[in-house]
Amino acid sequence: MAQEHDLNATTSSAGPVSRFVAAMAVLGFVQASAVEPKVATVDEFRTAMKDAGEAFAVITMMTPTPAYLLNSVRGDELTQVAIVRSQMAASRTFLAAKRSAEGVRLSDEMLDALDDLDAILRKSEPDQAAAIDAVEEVDKACAACHRSMREGNERTGYRFRPGIVG
Ligand code: HEC
Repeated sequence: MAQEHDLNATTSSAGPVSRFVAAMAVLGFVQASAVEPKVATVDEFRTAMKDAGEAFAVITMMTPTPAYLLNSVRGDELTQVAIVRSQMAASRTFLAAKRSAEGVRLSDEMLDALDDLDAILRKSEPDQAAAIDAVEEVDKACAACHRSMREGNERTGYRFRPGIVG
């Protein structure tokens, strides 16, 4: 595609890197760090959460529908899982820098739940019931951290509980 070609031409230094990442992804070797967005401030953490929330909403919406059986839809869901995963890995790095052992533990549980969902989505024979359960486990991991580290609500806005990130 011409547009894709132009994009590569203008980002010649990133080109080989993203091609490398893509090749690693095909091989199943992508490490979170390879695609990890930067989260160095509370504002960036919040943006990461919003992006993860949007991607996870797609997953939650699509999984229980008949469209789940389409390879293309499970493929799209895998892309959304990768987005959630990269945001969560970046959030974990932030919490580790803030020396929050609890934040790191809850992030690891989150990443494990995402790995389980990823594996189910990759099955050649779709297993929708298992996928629905796995999405629920991811949701529980989000909620567990929110219960522990977050305060506020939709109306007032959310923030870290005092004392976690200084
Ligand atoms: C390691 C802890 C942790 C995990 C895991 C986690 N969150 Fe969060 N999340 C937070 C904290 C803390 C906040 C409040 C941060 C802030 O806004 O200052 C937050 C805020 C949010 C917000 C509100 C952003 C805003 O202000 O509008 C959304 C949406 C969100 N998280 C979605 C998710 C989803 C979806 C998952 C699971 C896929 C998830 N979170 C997993 C800690 C976590």
